[in-house]
Amino acid sequence: MVGFNKTWSPKASALILVAAVTTQPDGTLRTGALYDAGLAASLMTVEAHHRGQVVHQIGGFNKEAVIKDFGLSPEITPIAILAIGKQAPADALGDEKMVEREISARTRVPLTQLILSGSL
Ligand SMILES: Cc1cc2nc3c(=O)[nH]c(=O)nc-3n(C[C@H](O)[C@H](O)[C@H](O)COP(=O)(O)O)c2cc1C
Repeated sequence: MVGFNKTWSPKASALILVAAVTTQPDGTLRTGALYDAGLAASLMTVEAHHRGQVVHQIGGFNKEAVIKDFGLSPEITPIAILAIGKQAPADALGDEKMVEREISARTRVPLTQLILSGSL
C-alpha cells in the first residue's frame, strides 16, 4: 500500500486484487480487459453492499511489488485493490485529517462538464 492506505486498509476483512489479462499472446492489447475488470469490480461492490458489507476502492498501491509478490506473468496487469468489510465509525480512523476526509460532504462534477455530444 502507498501513503495513508497503509494505516486503514489492514483493518479490512479482505483485500481483493483486481487484475486483468491485458495483452494477447501476440503482444497486442486486449482492449476490453480494463472495461471488463471495472465492470466486475463494480458488480462485486454492489453485491457486497447488498450483503451488508462496504467496499473501498484502492488505486494507491505499489503495482511492481504486487507483480513480484503474486508472481504475475507479464500479460497480467494489476488494476486496483478492493477493501471489503463492515463499515466502522469514522472515529476508528484515528487520524484527524482522515476522519475529516471521511465525513466531508460528497461532491460530484456536474453532468454538463462530463457529457460530450456528437454523432456515433
Ligand atoms: C479508481 C479509484 C481509486 C481509488 N484509490 C483510493 C486510494 O488509493 N485510497 C483511498 O483511500 N481511496 C481511494 N479511492 C476511493 C475514493 O477516494 C473515494 O473514497 C470513493 O471513490 C468514494 O467517493 P464518493 O464518496 O465521492 O462516492 C479510489 C477510488 C477509485 C474509483
